[in-house]
Amino acid sequence: MSSPFARDELTARFMAAFGHAPDGVWAAPGRVNLIGEHTDYNEGFVLPFAIGPTARAAVRRRTDRTARLISSYGDEGLVTVDLERLAPSNMHGWTAYPLGVAWVLGQQGVTVPGFDLFLDSSVPTGAGLSSSAAIECAVALALNELTGAGLTREELVPVGQRAENEVVGAPTGILDQSASLLGTEGHAVFLDCRSRRAESVPLDLAGAQLVLLVVDTRVSHTHATGGYASRRASCELGAEVLGVPALRDLGAADLREAAGLLDDETYRRVRHIVTENDRVLATVKVLVEEGPAAIGALLTASHASMRDDFEISCPELDLAVQTALANGALGARMTGGGFGGSAIALIPAPAEQTIRQQILAAFHSAGFRPPDVFTVTPAAGARRIA
Ligand code: GLA
Repeated sequence: MSSPFARDELTARFMAAFGHAPDGVWAAPGRVNLIGEHTDYNEGFVLPFAIGPTARAAVRRRTDRTARLISSYGDEGLVTVDLERLAPSNMHGWTAYPLGVAWVLGQQGVTVPGFDLFLDSSVPTGAGLSSSAAIECAVALALNELTGAGLTREELVPVGQRAENEVVGAPTGILDQSASLLGTEGHAVFLDCRSRRAESVPLDLAGAQLVLLVVDTRVSHTHATGGYASRRASCELGAEVLGVPALRDLGAADLREAAGLLDDETYRRVRHIVTENDRVLATVKVLVEEGPAAIGALLTASHASMRDDFEISCPELDLAVQTALANGALGARMTGGGFGGSAIALIPAPAEQTIRQQILAAFHSAGFRPPDVFTVTPAAGARRIA
């Protein structure tokens, strides 16, 4: 899924697959979370931004209730389904994302007609950059427009999230879909996951002579199993024992009492969420008052908290962070759900080549797979492109 087809080529591929032109083409980006990890489902704060790579869906309405789907990267070829019989238990593989969105819209009372869909994406899968949310958001935007459902972007966020939770089976929050749908070029999305109020915060990296490097460790993760769900369960347990609706309701001053009431592991999970929420608020303040060059220490502190308290890092992510910092990065952290995926490093532009080389060399020496290293900038959110 490296380079996306140009819009015209996507249309040509659609025509070759289905024998007619699409009604339109919709694109939605992946995201990098600058800071605020696992805080979304604790009703806390996050600060992601949309990135350049997008999922693109060419779609045409049909007059029956059949959906036909094909992608430039799945092995299945053309998949044909009867929308009348759609249920979470019978959606599989990549088609669970677009079909999941159609199913959720149906559950919410939107009459979704049959459709033909061709999907392409340049968001790397398994890199922790929300390739699945990108698909959900492109399809949600397309079906919203083609059905005339008239849902706002804010209302489409939980459509993608429900597809993820109820169809794919990953108990994730609203971070990824919010970044993809609400992101704007040159800005991060500061989101309060309780009130759902989103604010654009300028993130002018180039203006500060900085680059944001992504190190995709190519260690795969899935949030439908294991660690992600158990972290979420620990947070829910912590909130219950401490008698608050969500960990969002705790501050640093509550941690002393929490230490006496919780087992050590649950306490450390709670401490990560409480301190991470504070770091997001501090990052927004520093970005506004001093600019991006001043947020490095907050990013690095976030990584330490995820590594030591939340325990969602892995040796490859730690090595990427440590090597970037040792070679002049201002700050670095893993990004996304963890257990693999990507790290980010905020670096002065002149140090980019050295840091790239040092990271590749460090991975080689450690006997790790070569990571994929590239830069990202805050890009536009989901949109119709044809
Ligand atoms: C994944 C989930 C998000 C969020 C992050 C961790 O990306 O999809 O909802 O919980 O992990 O911050």
